[in-house]
Amino acid sequence: MNSIAILDFGSQYSQLIARRVREQHVYCELHPWDTPPARVLAASPKGFILSGGPASVYAANAPQIPAYVLESGLPVLGICYGMQALTHALGGKVAPAPQQEYGLAQVRVLRPNALLPPGEARVWMSHGDRIDQLPNGFASLAKSDNSPIAAMCDALRGYYGVQFHPEVHHTPSGPELLRRFVIEICAAAPNWTPESIIGESIARIRAQVGQQCVLSAVSGGVDSSVATALAHRAIGNQLDAVFVDNGLLRKDEAARVVKTFRENLGVCLHPINAIEEFMQALRGITEPEQKRRIIGEKFIRIFEEQAQKLGQPPFLVQGTIYPDVVESSAPDRAQGQRIKSHHNVGGLPEEMQFELVEPLRYLFKDEVRAVGEALGLPAELVWRQPFPGPGLAVRCLGEVTWERLERLRGADAIFTGELEAAGLLTMKPLTPALSRGERAGVRAGTSQAFAVLLPVQSVGVMGDQRTYQEAIALRAVTTEDFMTADWAQLPHELLGRVSSRIVNEVAGVNRVVYDITSKPPATIEWE
Ligand code: XMP
Repeated sequence: MNSIAILDFGSQYSQLIARRVREQHVYCELHPWDTPPARVLAASPKGFILSGGPASVYAANAPQIPAYVLESGLPVLGICYGMQALTHALGGKVAPAPQQEYGLAQVRVLRPNALLPPGEARVWMSHGDRIDQLPNGFASLAKSDNSPIAAMCDALRGYYGVQFHPEVHHTPSGPELLRRFVIEICAAAPNWTPESIIGESIARIRAQVGQQCVLSAVSGGVDSSVATALAHRAIGNQLDAVFVDNGLLRKDEAARVVKTFRENLGVCLHPINAIEEFMQALRGITEPEQKRRIIGEKFIRIFEEQAQKLGQPPFLVQGTIYPDVVESSAPDRAQGQRIKSHHNVGGLPEEMQFELVEPLRYLFKDEVRAVGEALGLPAELVWRQPFPGPGLAVRCLGEVTWERLERLRGADAIFTGELEAAGLLTMKPLTPALSRGERAGVRAGTSQAFAVLLPVQSVGVMGDQRTYQEAIALRAVTTEDFMTADWAQLPHELLGRVSSRIVNEVAGVNRVVYDITSKPPATIEWE
């Protein structure tokens, strides 16, 4: 194997380090710092990166560099806390800095070295402690106003440390620094490409399932689509895919998903029309969590029924991706409060009688998309904006009826259609690999945009007639991680056109409003 092991000391940026290494086309794994050595060494790393973290090396129970890392003889790069832990472990001195350093700083490189290009660089600092005395064998590589030792190395042993964060995009030379460490110092080969990922996944799926049958649930979302397409590439007709049309999809969406999988990819797809069942189950329900629960349960029941019809295949494809895996084992991260019961909706319960096939288990979202494109999935599917598991039910506030869903679908298609025509709908500009110039363009786009039908009637006038009809709220946000979001500053002229088209073309709507709340305090979806 050709990989880098990243040990997580609890920094909020740890996943970013892994993504930056993957962007160099080198496979890496992120593990909590105290993971058993055998697990970390299983991928035969060619070097270690130690992340930042909130502790001070002298605090009681402060995380330490495990002995096997320094005994391995492999190169080590310590970032922020990782650098301090390295210093502490090797006999140097770490002390509270007289002035804490948070935010942008300028570092000056002091001597030629393998890690940092010569000259000055703008970097992102975030630390309270600093290195006061280097361990034996180390030289200082760079300084900033508040850190006399902003970077250090012992080239003989291949040990490096940086006080700043090369993984965040406020450090423009960060990718080059990481490239030098990973490719030149660790000599890892840049062979982690969509093609190699596909090749390895196919081999792994075939080895796991042999000649047996496999089932997959396609939702039309990116992860389940790419996982299903990969499984199909690996085992062809041994795969059966089930697609449940619950009536809560967007305009023409069900037909598009079926067409893509059947006609373009040749997947044996069983579309289940369960619209009537879902509508029945949702009748009279207005409470958001209750809607989610009902939809989740119905989905599972229909899926179980279908699995039985298909002879109960022993394997199930699931689109678990690497952030899910990492987050479930990350150190010191308190479980957040449940705001909405997101991730169980449209998912399957753990106790189902399947062995899981998880071809995306080691991939970040941008890698999933690259693999999807390489497999021939259409861009509209690979780059689509997120869509919640309970679908339009949580955008149709109040009771979910077919008539109201059709109203919502009509308005949503007009809004997203106009955004698309204006080039403002795509997700593409949000990928982290973008140049800074491209990132600036994000401000003008949307990360997620949709219509919401409100259970509110208001008075209007059309022709000379009084109307008393429902209102549509337009929601469009920009965000990088969907944890926080800003409302999108859409052109007024576009909003005006969308509004007049909706009231003219969608029966039952006489008013359109634009949602200008950020998250927090609001959430992106309305329910
Ligand atoms: P909120 O509304 O909490 O949404 O700001 C954050 C992101 O999650 C999506 N979302 C869901 N995704 N199942 C999902 O798979 C769900 O039940 C669900 N609810 C919200 C939402 O669209 C946004 O991208």
